[in-house]
Amino acid sequence: TERTFSMIKPDATKRNLTGKINAKFEDAGLRIVAQKRLHLSKAQAGEFYKVHAERPFYDELCEFMASGPVVAQVLEGENAIAKNREVMGATNPADADEGTIRADFAESVGENSVHGSDAPETAKEEISFFFSGLEIVG
Ligand code: GTP
Ligand code: MG
Repeated sequence: TERTFSMIKPDATKRNLTGKINAKFEDAGLRIVAQKRLHLSKAQAGEFYKVHAERPFYDELCEFMASGPVVAQVLEGENAIAKNREVMGATNPADADEGTIRADFAESVGENSVHGSDAPETAKEEISFFFSGLEIVG
């Protein structure tokens, strides 16, 4: 069993979609073992997404991530990292498979409702950016 970091983005919290998104995780066999709602500052969003600092959309991305509440989560399950990315769907909702979170809910390539870690090292880093060990209950 594996853990991954997930974040429900401001476009989704604004539209009251937290429960519908969580149902998709749970239906796929992912267990939500930690969860909290936060409103990131632009600086915190920038720190979280610093791997994208050189990308042309970085400033827009940080603005967006600080534009409203997010829900930070730890998901646990068999192959959780890959499974979560499958449930999320492609970055651009236009390319996302039917039934995925981004196909059903995302508004655009930027405002795409969810984030999920892309590898074991980033999962570990992103989980510890938001959660202490005591806050994760498997
Ligand atoms: P994350 O799980 O959020 O990391 O998405 P991803 O791994 O599917 O995509 P990637 O890491 O390549 O990009 C990170 C985030 O930057 C995306 O989820 C989008 O929110 C945003 N992003 C990516 N490409 C674009 C773009 O062309 N324009 C804008 N505005 N945002 C983008
Ligand atoms: Mg990514």
